[in-house]
Amino acid sequence: EQIEKGGYDHFMLKEIYEQPNAILDTYRGRMRVAEGIIKMAGIDDNLAKLLNAKRIIIVACGTSWHAGLVAEYIFEELVRIPVEVEYASEFRYRNPVIHQDDVVIAISQSGETADTMAAIKLAKERGAFVFGVCNVVGSSISRETHAGAYTHAGPEIGVASTKAFTTQITVLSLIALKLAERKGTISNGDFHFYLQELERIPEKVEESLKSNEHIKFIADTYKEAKNCLYLGRGYNFPVALEGALKLKEISYIHAEGYPAAEMKHGPIALIDEHMPVVVIATRKGHYDKVVSNIQEIKSRKGKIIAIVTKGDDTVSNLADHVIEVPETEEFLTPLLTTIPLQLLSYHIAVMLGKNVDQPRNLAKSVTVE
Ligand code: G6P
Repeated sequence: EQIEKGGYDHFMLKEIYEQPNAILDTYRGRMRVAEGIIKMAGIDDNLAKLLNAKRIIIVACGTSWHAGLVAEYIFEELVRIPVEVEYASEFRYRNPVIHQDDVVIAISQSGETADTMAAIKLAKERGAFVFGVCNVVGSSISRETHAGAYTHAGPEIGVASTKAFTTQITVLSLIALKLAERKGTISNGDFHFYLQELERIPEKVEESLKSNEHIKFIADTYKEAKNCLYLGRGYNFPVALEGALKLKEISYIHAEGYPAAEMKHGPIALIDEHMPVVVIATRKGHYDKVVSNIQEIKSRKGKIIAIVTKGDDTVSNLADHVIEVPETEEFLTPLLTTIPLQLLSYHIAVMLGKNVDQPRNLAKSVTVE
């Protein structure tokens, strides 16, 4: 097992560090930046169906559901198709309205999650076209769906999902970009620019990983916290949910993710000097609004850990700690802002002596209800 961990203390840390390569492997061979081409068999063979979709319904569970939420923002902005994101377990039992011109996208790392599988079967029965985004080749979900695109994350052993999440977002971004280009919902210039930006994500993830020691220090400062709040807006709202999930899963600290503006409708009541609040405050994406949320937290003595764009000095003056990520296009920011949140929960869990790779009560893949 030590050999499999490749010199890392845990699979989770190894998998966090594998992300630059995993993302590269996921777009390599599919994206030709110089020529401005995206080639994906599962998409190319079903292009008409996808382009004519009146609606996209995404079904997933856990971290894959969070990737689905990010995809909702990406698809609606770039492709202008309405998207709904459903917990597979809710979808399958509530007699959902499904039309023949709906496209259902099922996201699953393992390809074996029972609820997601049941949601797929229901959608197929009702005539929808079902597209799978799985990591495990030949898995049940990849076989049950009409078509699909694999993430090329490689095996993910740690129960808390890391590289599966970022590669899912990578695949979904490629799909959105391809459809947007075909539909003409983005300009040619933007299409080329976005491909270039996506191509640079692995090196920017690499750069984000360099904050590891700094994040370790922050983890040490807050490891005794009983609660933690995660806030983000737009593309980074799902990242806040995912950051909170990671902390809960492996450190057993109660954490909640919230859209930053919703804070005033509830969580603000919890804020005092004992409450660490992780705020994703990158420069693109409602920046000024997030800054004013930070001020509200500050005035209630909350401790702020902010994820900011490199070089930001407005937030650094307000926050107790800042963690920088490189700048990128707004829809790609989740690929970078997620990284420090993974590391933060990892270090806190290790410092608390928890079983990081196999947290209590959790399974890597939930194959029964
Ligand atoms: C379990 C795992 C999570 C995962 C979820 C969905 O809860 O512990 O890490 O996100 O299942 O799994 P899937 O394989 O369908 O993505």
